Amino acid sequence: MTVTEDPLAKLPFHLRGNYAPVQTEVTTDELSVVGDLPPELDGLYVRNGANPKSGRSPHWFAGDGMVHGIRLGDGRAHWYRNRYVQTRALNEPGARAIGADGSVDRTVGVNNTHVIRHAGRILTLVESSFPCELSPELDTIGVHDFDGRLDSAMTAHPKICPVSGEMHFFGYGWAPPYLTYHRVDATGALVQSEVIDVPGPTMIHDFSITETQVIFMDLPVVFDLELAMRGTMPYRWDDDYGARLGVMPRGVSGVQPRWFDIDPCYVFHPMNSFDDGSTVVLDAARYPSLWKADSADFDNDSVLHRWQIDLDDGSVTETQLDDRQMEFPRVREDLVGLPNRFGYGVSSFGDEAGIVKYDLETGDAAIHDLGPGRLPGEAVFVPADGAVAEDDGWLLLYAYDKAADTSSFVVLAAADPTAPPIAEVPLPQRVPFGFHGSWMPA
Ligand SMILES: [Fe+2]
Repeated sequence: MTVTEDPLAKLPFHLRGNYAPVQTEVTTDELSVVGDLPPELDGLYVRNGANPKSGRSPHWFAGDGMVHGIRLGDGRAHWYRNRYVQTRALNEPGARAIGADGSVDRTVGVNNTHVIRHAGRILTLVESSFPCELSPELDTIGVHDFDGRLDSAMTAHPKICPVSGEMHFFGYGWAPPYLTYHRVDATGALVQSEVIDVPGPTMIHDFSITETQVIFMDLPVVFDLELAMRGTMPYRWDDDYGARLGVMPRGVSGVQPRWFDIDPCYVFHPMNSFDDGSTVVLDAARYPSLWKADSADFDNDSVLHRWQIDLDDGSVTETQLDDRQMEFPRVREDLVGLPNRFGYGVSSFGDEAGIVKYDLETGDAAIHDLGPGRLPGEAVFVPADGAVAEDDGWLLLYAYDKAADTSSFVVLAAADPTAPPIAEVPLPQRVPFGFHGSWMPA
């Protein structure tokens, strides 16, 4: 008997199963809808992810950016397209973000993490580099550096204030200045940049805003030059760095954040934050630690926690709000920085996963279960026209069917976690598990 080894078994998780990249850029307008697509969903749902063109990448976060978009309107799915973000990293074999002399070129990046729209521009984002602009048909227009005013990388998680229309963001790097805050006005002009003092270079994936404050997370996943020289993910856990939240007033120049020590942990993604009188509330998916052994380790569960920072007496409390594993938390876009009752995330349980809906008022949580072997990606909430209740609307996502090895676009009724999907669009090609996306109304 010959024993044959499965060559795929040797691949890291991020190149296997539905993490594996797809090789073809597809355009189709022949899409069927199962169920009823709400006609008021008139726009583009687009999601970014890592899709290494070579088929290999050293880390989950390192693959070339590929967006998957579906155009909806009139109760129909007009088209589906997946497109590589045509970055310099993809197209210029010699292009390096970090030169041999240590110089940094922010025009070179994989732009694989998020895709947003602000001031009419669709921007693909990755935290090492400048944004890259796309057309509404998902063709790449080119690097966007805010008319040359951006002098740092740009996080993949800017926050667009639903009240002012401003976009707040930051950039971090391994060389000083380690952290820079930026504000772009509602017309897309970069109008404020502030260097933020932090003790060292840490991996800062996301941040949050309230109506009056900006909140930074300086957590103990630190830059390691030795790892960088090896060409691997250059960040690791550091027991000695400490952990702190920084609260900085919005709309003021030249003011550093007030820093508040917290127990060491890691957060990729806050769910939301808001002002509660003189207390700042921050809800986030908290890992007890990250990358202690190495950066391939995602085995620690992230769980929803709340920090309450009292700006009057300087105290911070930390509360675990749930016990489920959860990542990719989202809220209604028009409640970013404002009090929210509901939040939505992807929760894994055993080999299965669903969309968990949190009710932060009652403390309840419920799972939108897509059925056995059907695994969802990040869900984006879209309010119904004229919605009164906060959860009156839809959750849009891509889901993967393990047994069939196929993907579909799914619309869930956010208010009813027990209801089956109200609409599904089977897709002509598998959509690999990715990162973040947006709904862009027409
Ligand atoms: Fe992220």
